[in-house]
Amino acid sequence: MLLLDGKIAAASVKEDLKKLTATIAASGKPAPHLAAILIGNNGASETYVASKVKSCEECGFKSTLIRFEETVDEAELLAAIQTLNNNQDIDGILVQLPLPKHIKEQKVIEAIDPSKDVDGFHPSSIGKLVQGLPTFIPATPYGILLMLEHFNIQTKGKHAVVIGRSNIVGRPMSILLSSNIAQGNCTVTICHSHTHNLKEICLQADIIVAALGKPEFVLPEMVKEGAVVIDVGITRVTDPTAAKGFRIKGDVHFSSVAPKCSAITPVPGGVGLMTIAGLLKNTMQAYQNNRG
Ligand code: GUN
Repeated sequence: MLLLDGKIAAASVKEDLKKLTATIAASGKPAPHLAAILIGNNGASETYVASKVKSCEECGFKSTLIRFEETVDEAELLAAIQTLNNNQDIDGILVQLPLPKHIKEQKVIEAIDPSKDVDGFHPSSIGKLVQGLPTFIPATPYGILLMLEHFNIQTKGKHAVVIGRSNIVGRPMSILLSSNIAQGNCTVTICHSHTHNLKEICLQADIIVAALGKPEFVLPEMVKEGAVVIDVGITRVTDPTAAKGFRIKGDVHFSSVAPKCSAITPVPGGVGLMTIAGLLKNTMQAYQNNRG
């Protein structure tokens, strides 16, 4: 069983980006610049955004973190996005999700200039992805492609089963895996909460992408011998014995599923780290498109 270690794959992506940034700096040009907006103080979002900012530093990127109270007015948030859209010094903009209930997520996503949409959530970015046009691939699916590439996992002609149909992971992942790209050309089945015979479908999978957000949902009786399993889940589960009072659990019951797999991602230390790698790649791409 091959452990698809996100630390190793992400370090390789970051190393390449660092070299590119050094070349940019040597030519006297400004560094790529990511702006992140964080609303409220959701613990998980705080952690993710802090990791994104730290990773920018590691790669020689500039980053700006803009924080708002949980009670921020939607109009104020949209105005802040507009200011970033108009700021020539900013290459990429992300608004950390989830948002407070009183703010319309779709409105916020659509407010971001598609040329700075490094999360790849704008309908224009997704539309291009569906048509196989150059665009920003949403960070988590992009990270998974980079992981598959790093560990040389073959996908052509394989049956991939994606569990979950979110706009952020499941749906774009299903489209990418079926696309005519290096880490694509799969036959894809996308499963969700209304799917009948999920176990039987998963048993036919050469590749399983578990992205439904239910801790330890994928059990060994659902997995074919030799399958590749990609675990996108990162749920905080209360555990009084843990130092922080919680543990991070994936969507796959790792200890029982791993022995059946040819390759599997751990949680933590798998896809989560690759999401940031995908975001950084997109930020560099935005920089090169807009002022490279
Ligand atoms: N929340 C969970 N995943 C993501 C992501 O990839 N980007 C943003 N902006 N928010 C998220």
